Amino acid sequence: MNYKTRMRRGRRTDALRLLARGVTLTTDDLILPLFAVEGARKTESIDAMPGVFRMSADRLAEKCETLKCPGVMLFGVPPADTKDSTGSYALREDGVVPEAVRAIKKSRPDLAVITDLCLCGYTAHGHCGVLAESGEVDNDATIDLLGKSALVHAAAGADMVAPSAMMDHQVEAVRAALDGGGFSRIGIMSYAAKFASAFYGPFRDVADSSPEFGSRAGYQLPPENREEAVRDALLDEAEGADWLMVKPSLPYLDVLSELTAQTRLPVAAYQVSGEYSMIKSAAENGQIDETDAFFETLTAMKRAGAAAMITYWAEEAAEVLSRL
Ligand code: PBG
Repeated sequence: MNYKTRMRRGRRTDALRLLARGVTLTTDDLILPLFAVEGARKTESIDAMPGVFRMSADRLAEKCETLKCPGVMLFGVPPADTKDSTGSYALREDGVVPEAVRAIKKSRPDLAVITDLCLCGYTAHGHCGVLAESGEVDNDATIDLLGKSALVHAAAGADMVAPSAMMDHQVEAVRAALDGGGFSRIGIMSYAAKFASAFYGPFRDVADSSPEFGSRAGYQLPPENREEAVRDALLDEAEGADWLMVKPSLPYLDVLSELTAQTRLPVAAYQVSGEYSMIKSAAENGQIDETDAFFETLTAMKRAGAAAMITYWAEEAAEVLSRL
C-alpha cells in the first residue's frame, strides 16, 4: 500500500530512535533522599525498604563522596526518646539533620543539600505540627516552629529547605525566618502539591513518623482534586517558593503536567517510598525488571514536565547513566 505516513520509519534503528527522542534522563535530574540518625559508624537497614538505610552523619558523608547526582534530600530520624508534643528536637543545633548537613558539606561542598522541614518525625503524636486543644494541628504555631527549624538547617549549611508539613503559609513563614536570620540566599523547595497518600507507608516505618491517631487528611491534599492541588501549589509560588514539588509521582502525573504548564518555577517529582517498594517487591518476586522499571517511571516524570526527580533509586540510576 502507498500509505503516506508510516510511524515505524522513525523507529527502525537505534540511531533513528535516538535522533527523534523526546526526553533524555541524565544524572543531573536526580535527587537522593537520605535518612540521618545519631551516632557514628551506623548503617541501619529497613525492612520496609530494601536497599535504603538510615545512617549516621559520618556514613552519609562517605556515601556522598561518590554520589553522581547533584542533590540530596535529607530527613532526620531522631532517637525515639527525644520526641515530645512540640517536636522540640527539630530546633536543636546538634540534631541529626544539622550534624548530617555539616558532615556532607565537608565531604562534598559542591552537592546541593536540601533538608526536609517537618515536625512529624519529631513529635510524639506523629502529626506534622503542634496540636491545638481541639486536637487539630495548630497551623500558625506550627509554621512559626518550621521557620525556626529552617534557620537551624540554614545555619548548618543547607542550600535549600523543603517544607513538607502542608500548613497554610508555611512558605511565607519560612521565607521570612530565613531572610530575618540573614539567609536570603537559601532557597525553598516547597512540597507544594503533597497528597494524603497510601504510598507513604514504608517511609513512615523508616522515619518512625506515623500519626498516633487520625490521619493527615486535615492538611495534606485530597487525591480527588486537581484544581485544589494546583491552586495550593501556585499559592506557594506567590509566597516565595523557589521550587515546587508534586508528591507522590506516578499517581499524580496529571497534576505535575498541569502545574508545569501553570508556573515558570522548576517542579520536582517525588517518587515516594510506596512507589519504590512496589517495584522493588515485584522485582524481588521476578515479575518485573527493576532497572528497566525505574528508568521508565523516571522518564515518565520528566516527560510530564519534572525538572528533577527525588527518588530512592537516584544513586543507582546516576551510576548507570554516568556509564552510558
Ligand atoms: C514528612 C514527609 C513524609 C514523606 C516525606 N516527608 C511522610 C508523610 O507525610 O507522612 C514521605 C516520603 C516517602 O514516602 O518516600 N511529612
